[in-house]
Amino acid sequence: MRITVLTLFPEMFNDFVSTSIIKRCLDKGVASVDFVNIRDFSKDKHNHVDDTPFGGGAGMVMKCQPVLDALESVRSENSYVILMSPAGTKYNQQVARRYATIEHLIIICGHYEGLDYRIYKHVDELVSIGDYVLTGGELAAMVISDSIIRLLDGAITSESISEESHENGLLEYPQYTKPADYNGDKVPDVLLSGHHKNIKEWRHAQSLMQTKKYRPDMFEKYELSKEEVKLLQKYEDNQ
Ligand code: ADE
Repeated sequence: MRITVLTLFPEMFNDFVSTSIIKRCLDKGVASVDFVNIRDFSKDKHNHVDDTPFGGGAGMVMKCQPVLDALESVRSENSYVILMSPAGTKYNQQVARRYATIEHLIIICGHYEGLDYRIYKHVDELVSIGDYVLTGGELAAMVISDSIIRLLDGAITSESISEESHENGLLEYPQYTKPADYNGDKVPDVLLSGHHKNIKEWRHAQSLMQTKKYRPDMFEKYELSKEEVKLLQKYEDNQ
């Protein structure tokens, strides 16, 4: 998969592409990420990419020409174009999975007060990472790229993906590592038992309980099987 980011601040992505799992994925060719600096497409002698809003008001608005020329320089038949915006569809794991199947994802990062509205009809989707306003779309683009790249074949083992939070409508079960006793705070016995069936059952029950406790909104949407109702009862009674 190829991700192309259109931005005025490509340097913001330097650490993102050169650290940890994302770096390894890019080195291995699991995905490629490239950047287009929108300013390179300015035709203005001062390299301006923004101007004051028609009708007046505070702030600056990004102009059509540099953004659309930057877009056309990388867009092909296989591209899907998203624009980072607090007004967009709310991003979640389901959307991440959908994007992970795209051959070429182009992410446009807005800045300042926003983009000229005439740009919007050239994009496939507006995407928001949450109900708050960032100074620009770059951090949102990193959030989205990160969550997509880790889902791609060869990034991380598919087992760790299938068991993690949000993959099956539930939160992940609690994890522990050494020492088994940290200043008297002990790891649950079952995890030290080596009994795989019991561990699996405990983890499933914990997953249900964590979701019920921390994300009641998700729990309400989750359809419990008869076995899960019994499992939950068994573990809740033992608490
Ligand atoms: N740009 C500014 N705020 C944003 C948000 N919440 N999500 C995506 N892009 C943004």
